[in-house]
Amino acid sequence: MINFQNFKKELKSLPLIGKGTSRKVYDLGNGTVAKVATNVKGIAQNKQETEIYEEDSSDYYSLKLFAIVYDHNENYSIIIAEKCIKIKSIKQLKILLDDTDGEETEIHYENTIEELFHRFQLGKRDLKRPSSWGLNSKNEPVLIDYGLTGQVWEEHYYRVKKYTIHY
Ligand SMILES: Nc1ncnc2c1ncn2[C@@H]1O[C@H](COP(=O)(O)OP(=O)(O)O)[C@@H](O)[C@H]1O
Ligand SMILES: [Mg+2]
Repeated sequence: MINFQNFKKELKSLPLIGKGTSRKVYDLGNGTVAKVATNVKGIAQNKQETEIYEEDSSDYYSLKLFAIVYDHNENYSIIIAEKCIKIKSIKQLKILLDDTDGEETEIHYENTIEELFHRFQLGKRDLKRPSSWGLNSKNEPVLIDYGLTGQVWEEHYYRVKKYTIHY
């Protein structure tokens, strides 16, 4: 367990290994990363990733296809997740995901994306982006950016957009 109170100060001295639109990712050097929200959308996505991982961790998809979330602070501005290596291309992702003998790589890939889309309302465009995926320590492909579910989109993206149109 991390003492998150002192942790924020320490973060600044750690290597920054990734930056998205709502989170910064720091390497903790022990096979884990800290995903630090830079806005409320980042907090919502941190919370969503934690909940998906914790609630569904007996489930095939979350167990196999989501990067582990180990810990989070009280307001979810920081989560601790398993560190993954970058997946470079869609071709590499398809091959990595394929657990058949290689003949049905394409079908297996499309089915996996469909399943993730239907169960978690994750955006297909995001799911098909190799940068949303990483290789875990077991050399398995896992989603590293899975917090933008339909629910989070509804709450933090869609409605906000709708209101701003009327300003
Ligand atoms: N578990 C992880 N292991 C290694 N790098 C990561 C991990 N999660 C995210 N990253 C890196 O940090 C970047 C930003 O993280 P991401 O989850 O995409 O945040 P955002 O929600 O802001 O887009 C990613 O594109 C990736 O390069
Ligand atoms: Mg991202």
